[in-house]
Amino acid sequence: PADIRAAIGAEIGVIGGSGFYQLLDGAEQIKVTTPYGDPSAPLSVGTVAGRRVAFLPRHGHDHEFPPHEINYRANIWAMRAAGVRQILAPCAVGSLRRELAPGTIVVPDQLVDRTSGRIQTFFDRGAVHVPFADPYCAHGTAAISEAGGSGVRTGGAMVVIEGPRFSTRAESQWYAAQGWSLVNMTGAPEAVLARELAVCYTSLALVTDLDAGLDADESVSQDEVFKVFAANIERLREIVLKTVELLPAERTCRCAQTLDGIRLPFELP
Ligand code: ADE
Repeated sequence: PADIRAAIGAEIGVIGGSGFYQLLDGAEQIKVTTPYGDPSAPLSVGTVAGRRVAFLPRHGHDHEFPPHEINYRANIWAMRAAGVRQILAPCAVGSLRRELAPGTIVVPDQLVDRTSGRIQTFFDRGAVHVPFADPYCAHGTAAISEAGGSGVRTGGAMVVIEGPRFSTRAESQWYAAQGWSLVNMTGAPEAVLARELAVCYTSLALVTDLDAGLDADESVSQDEVFKVFAANIERLREIVLKTVELLPAERTCRCAQTLDGIRLPFELP
């Protein structure tokens, strides 16, 4: 791991969602493997504003991994092994509130995990229980908010469903009735795995559709999700690049201290 870190020397990671397969032109492709297997793709490493950034397309370069088949542990481990300590995680989401129309970019502040059957921990030995009351990095959120200005909304809970099917109308109405704002299929266990390795993680959710409970006529289609994502990808990319510039060089957030004083069953990469 020390060799990989020295060779790649990344500091910031970006995990791109559906429709977000590349961050920088001409980035170096670096194949990394992990004790958990291979990540979704080689890391694409380049420099933004003097900072080394590693990009990983969450679903693979050709979108070969559906949400429930993504090797989340390998992705997060590879990022940390490459040197990454702060992750920005763009993703496509459905909206559970009419005022969050397609095209809106939201940084959620809470997460509800409704996935099932996914491996969601690195700590399957020992007694390690990380705090997760606030799943997203406060400093990452502030940086995105500054980078995006009025083009970004902050706050709200994102519920993560198992998929790969979309929700029924009743499920969707139930989520909305809980006061939750967004629905997605990949936000868990990605966020918690980053926290388990004391890596900052902040989500940038692009609303691609109104979820079934809000949409009176049709249910959500994959086509719609990809179309809206494509129409907004440049704006999203610009916010990500600007955020990279604004992320603090020194981590003073709580994420950085997650594992302080904890006896780990393995060495961190
Ligand atoms: N990703 C994009 N739109 C979604 C929706 N409506 N439900 C779950 N995941 C999504």
